[in-house]
Amino acid sequence: MKMDHFPIVLALLRAASRDGSPAVTQHAERLREALSNAGADKEAQAIQQVLDSSRESSAAKLVPSRVVRSRAISGGEALTASTHPPVDKETSAPLAEILFADRLAELPPPILNDRLKRAVEHLTTQWAGADQLQAAGIKVPRTALFFGAPGTGKTRLALWAAAELGLPVVLARLDGLTSSYLGTTARNIRTLFDFANRYRCLLLLDEFDGIAKLRDDPQELGEVKRVVNAVLQAMDVRTSIGLTVAITNHEGLLDPAVWRRFDARLDIGLPDAATRAKIIERYTAGFDVQSGSVKVLTWLTEGNSGSEIETMCDFIKRHMTLHAEQHPSVIQSVQLFLDLSATSSSSTAREALLRDDAFWVTEALAYRDIKIVQADIAEALQTTQSKVSRILKSVERT
Ligand SMILES: Nc1ncnc2c1ncn2[C@@H]1O[C@H](COP(=O)(O)OP(=O)(O)OP(=O)(O)O)[C@@H](O)[C@H]1O
Ligand SMILES: [Mg+2]
Repeated sequence: MKMDHFPIVLALLRAASRDGSPAVTQHAERLREALSNAGADKEAQAIQQVLDSSRESSAAKLVPSRVVRSRAISGGEALTASTHPPVDKETSAPLAEILFADRLAELPPPILNDRLKRAVEHLTTQWAGADQLQAAGIKVPRTALFFGAPGTGKTRLALWAAAELGLPVVLARLDGLTSSYLGTTARNIRTLFDFANRYRCLLLLDEFDGIAKLRDDPQELGEVKRVVNAVLQAMDVRTSIGLTVAITNHEGLLDPAVWRRFDARLDIGLPDAATRAKIIERYTAGFDVQSGSVKVLTWLTEGNSGSEIETMCDFIKRHMTLHAEQHPSVIQSVQLFLDLSATSSSSTAREALLRDDAFWVTEALAYRDIKIVQADIAEALQTTQSKVSRILKSVERT
């Protein structure tokens, strides 16, 4: 048998086996056997994989779960623990990492404000409902771009969405792909997309601006164009096959042509006060950090990302654990944290807290985004409210 057109046979089989028809399975088994008898083991194995994956997805339909297994959103073979990720031909370095949905489901989603939450819910709902859209002849959107400041939970959000959909993630960092030898970048992009298109997955292109990174160097301009074109072409092909989410924190670097390729574009901004309060509550849960302290920390973390807030909370928890006998106040912990994590960027709240009590207490009480009262300050300082008013009176006198 001439094998040149075998990929087409496989694609046919994949499409036909989606409905789980026993006749299709039976004929596929026959073909697999015939190929195997003729010594075409690789092809026989490929057919087996298609059969396995269609069995897996029809079995999954029987499992009642929160996870929605829509086949329209991403078709293809099932990724298994023994699937090798695609590699760079010259260096054999992996071009992507495979993350499975059951592990991803252990991660809680990032905490977002209500508007963002609604937008994200809409995205996952439409992806989960892709079968329905397709059946109605409506275009299924399969691309999204998440952008915003570092550490705001973009990667976490994409991983969580994949878990919600029950899809494994093929995670590629595009800055990593482009740092390999010149000329091979475009080929790596194609290898990566071919891999993602073959399997049922969410393709996550992290650090997506990596494709534009070479632009600064005029000598590399031709290369950048080739790479950007390779990405655009690959995305166009993939848009009818599977889900692609790209992430960047340098959205300004992206070409308008790239920008337009995305059906949805989500600006994951820095968390507002109410969101920061929830993030602080999550990361201090189980520790003696009461609501007054949460409010003071919310004030203090204005302009911080979720990731920075998590780091601060981790410090507070460590400090409270190591100095449990002294029972430090949250303010004592946080002042130590600030002393140990000086930054070049200035924050009025941080500077106030490092100056003196009278100064920061006045600032905190004047915070507009949430209402902070003297009792909150007293709690964060582990002192009485009358002590707080004495602190404030000392300011009035000076
Ligand atoms: N909104 C949030 N809610 C809860 N946790 C958050 C939030 N944002 C960030 N984090 C915490 O910070 C970690 C890092 O976030 P993540 O890597 O998703 O950020 P990112 O936006 O992808 O950052 P970068 O742009 O630097 O890649 C998360 O794993 C999580 O623990
Ligand atoms: Mg990230």
